[in-house]
Amino acid sequence: MKGKEINWSELPFGYVKADYNVRCTYKDGEWGPIEVSDSEYVSLHIASSCLHYGQESFEGLKAFRGKDGKVRVFRMEENAKRFIRSAEGIAMQPMPVEKFCEMVRMVVKLNENIIPPYGTGASLYIRPLEIGISPKVGVSPSSEYMVIMLVTPVGPYFKTGFKPGRVCLSREYDRVAPKGTGSIKIGGNYAASLVAGEKAHQLGYGVMLYLDPKEKKYLDECGAANFYGVKGNTYVTPASETILPSITNKSLRQIARDMGMNVEERHILYDELKDFDEVGACGTAAVCSPIGEIVDIDNGTKFEYGMDTVGPVTQKLYDTIRGIQNGEIEDKHGWTEIIEFD
Ligand code: PLP
Ligand code: COI
Repeated sequence: MKGKEINWSELPFGYVKADYNVRCTYKDGEWGPIEVSDSEYVSLHIASSCLHYGQESFEGLKAFRGKDGKVRVFRMEENAKRFIRSAEGIAMQPMPVEKFCEMVRMVVKLNENIIPPYGTGASLYIRPLEIGISPKVGVSPSSEYMVIMLVTPVGPYFKTGFKPGRVCLSREYDRVAPKGTGSIKIGGNYAASLVAGEKAHQLGYGVMLYLDPKEKKYLDECGAANFYGVKGNTYVTPASETILPSITNKSLRQIARDMGMNVEERHILYDELKDFDEVGACGTAAVCSPIGEIVDIDNGTKFEYGMDTVGPVTQKLYDTIRGIQNGEIEDKHGWTEIIEFD
């Protein structure tokens, strides 16, 4: 796909073929050179540990074309560190931060033609993934690994765009186990969320909001995003060992503090849903997406926040984080790296 053939403003959050991806293999105790590929396929041993036992982790980060024409990648060292935690969480070889960052810079530069223009609302989504590639029949970790980074230009994650969406909640589904893998980004968590996600879609909701898997009392993950609520001058988000520590949420918490808000990371009781002025879902793909209503599909209780307008705090958080990503607002925390094109 050539950049000039893409209708940037209408892009969904989907896959568009890029000219190149980059790959790096861990073999004989060391990471090899970064290789450039123009193939959309990988050739795997039929007994690879990723295929049988789910030794797979991934990341998601974005590059943005700013008003000044520069391309900025948002907080890639944070993704690199989480990629290490995810690898360690399923006994894979972690990739050093610097190698990860080198691969990100390379894959962005190689695909300059599909970095969405400023002002279209679209961005370049970077998807790193790691897989165990040694043949395994007994259940044990691979000795060889491959990291692949692909890119695709994306638009808004939710079909509604930056407008309030509808979310459902149910106690019938767990995304992860209480002491399981919820705080790392591995494919298995997402496989385990597909049935709940499809249920939400069938019923006309964007995503499923989970309660904590142990007591079913506290708000947990919101689909593939973190949950946050706003009450007066306070930004509240779950402190939970079963949610992914979102880099977007961490950034929004800092922005909220910079705005003079109180920030609370704590368990949030289900009953508190009725008290929030605004609620939303945040993540790289979701940015901060307003939620207009949450319906408890187990008992029909509806929590309404307004389907017509975006709350002022969510709007300000969104404008600020997107402004930093586009280079329009001063990046005083040093979150972005400008990619130098030769
Ligand atoms: N929670 C889950 C389950 C996710 O998949 C994601 C997406 O990465 C997030 C939260 C948000 O994390 P981040 O802001 O680092 O993208
Ligand atoms: C992200 O926000 O980057 C995600 O990973 C969400 C989803 C596409 C898995």
